Amino acid sequence: MNDSLKSKINEYKDAVNKKLDEYLKVQYPEEIWDSMRYSVLSGGKRIRPLLVLETCNALSGDYLKAIPVACAIEMLHSQSLIHDDLPCMDNDDYRRGKLTNHKVFGESTAVLAGDALLSFAPQIILQHTKCEDSIKLKLLEEFFISAGAEKLIAGQVVDIASEGKQIDKNTLDFIHKNKTGALFCLSVRSGAMIAGADGKTLENLTEFAKKIGLAFQISDDILDETATLETLGKTPHKDKQAGKVTYLSFYGMEEAKKRLDFLCSSACDILEKNKINSDILREITLSINERVK
Ligand code: IPE
Ligand code: IPE
Ligand code: MG
Ligand code: MG
Ligand code: MG
Repeated sequence: MNDSLKSKINEYKDAVNKKLDEYLKVQYPEEIWDSMRYSVLSGGKRIRPLLVLETCNALSGDYLKAIPVACAIEMLHSQSLIHDDLPCMDNDDYRRGKLTNHKVFGESTAVLAGDALLSFAPQIILQHTKCEDSIKLKLLEEFFISAGAEKLIAGQVVDIASEGKQIDKNTLDFIHKNKTGALFCLSVRSGAMIAGADGKTLENLTEFAKKIGLAFQISDDILDETATLETLGKTPHKDKQAGKVTYLSFYGMEEAKKRLDFLCSSACDILEKNKINSDILREITLSINERVK
């Protein structure tokens, strides 16, 4: 990646991290804010906020206007991770290279921190996004749908219910599309909506986001098998232990990598065909494929 792309990506990340820190101001009772801050401000690749900001920028929008929604989506993502790591879900001890939220704050505070993030995030969109009310309403509607029982939670429910079972290709796709793909679509669409994208552009970008969302979860499945705690920041080999059907267990390594490669190159094709000129969106897409190399 060239230096100017790197510095733009760092500019986006710094802007998001600064605002997350500002929004999540500690107040009474401190325990809950400390717990929320512990997970949200503990690093993370920030891929969803980057997608929000760069999609807005690529469509000639002002990315500064998209920062509140980028932060809100990162809070939602962090909520999903806190709950995903709970003993009643994936039962993980490490996340982003640190102990998981419930290991530090206890299960009840971890559940509540997730709940608190989920209800705080849309307030950030509502109070801080500088755009027309009609767009703000649309952002909120998509946020709530993506976070809920029709999308992210649907994926998580079927993921957990499928542990130790044989599932078919459609069920596997349903899990990945919803538990992970939904927030990729939300990120790209939110950035596009703030830039005032037309319906056709939104549709094309949604297709792009679906492909990289699925690609991202395939790479996550592969890394669970091949990476270490140090590089991953979370305990490896958890999927097999829990009897999860993943892209890797279903298709095998070679085919899973082939599918990942194909998804990333067709996502780049969508950008090119529709003249969405963004080196950063292309770079993010390529990096999803590169993760497993
Ligand atoms: C982890 O997401 C959960 C999945 C959807 C696979 P990330 O890999 O983006 O996690 P962070 O935010 O970088 O920690
Ligand atoms: C995570 O899927 C999806 C959500 C948190 C919604 P995973 O369970 O595979 O994510 P990791 O591997 O724990 O990050
Ligand atoms: Mg999980
Ligand atoms: Mg998990
Ligand atoms: Mg995983």
